[in-house]
Amino acid sequence: AHNSLWEMCLRTQHDVTARMALVPRTMEARGLDATPPMQARLRKVGTPAALRAVEILDVILRDEIGHVAVGNRWYGWLCAQQGIEPLGHYRRLAREHSAPRLKPPFNEPARRAAGFSDAELTAMHQA
Ligand SMILES: [Fe+2]
Repeated sequence: AHNSLWEMCLRTQHDVTARMALVPRTMEARGLDATPPMQARLRKVGTPAALRAVEILDVILRDEIGHVAVGNRWYGWLCAQQGIEPLGHYRRLAREHSAPRLKPPFNEPARRAAGFSDAELTAMHQA
C-alpha cells in the first residue's frame, strides 16, 4: 500500500461521486491490474515463501474485486440519481483531480467481475 490512495481520499472528500470514481474505481482497480504481474514474478522466484505470497495475493485480489464492485455499484447509482453520463463524467473527474493515468496490462477478468462494463473497458484502452 502507498499514500496515493489516501491522498485521493482527501482530494475527493467533498464529492461522493468523485470519491467512488477515483478511489475504488481507479486506485483500488489499479491493484487488480498490478496483481497478476506481481504473481508471475513471484512464481519465477519459486521459493516456498514466494509461492505462499502468490496464494496470499489471490485472497487480496478476491477481496479487492469486492471493494471495486462496491465503487462501481455506487458510482452507477450516484450518476443515475444526478442524471450524469458515467463515462464522460469519469473522464472529467479524473482530469479535475489529477488521477493517475490508467496503464495496461489491465486485469480484464477481475475488472469485469468488479462490474466494469464493456464500454468502460473499451474506454480504458483509449485513455
Ligand atoms: Fe481495497
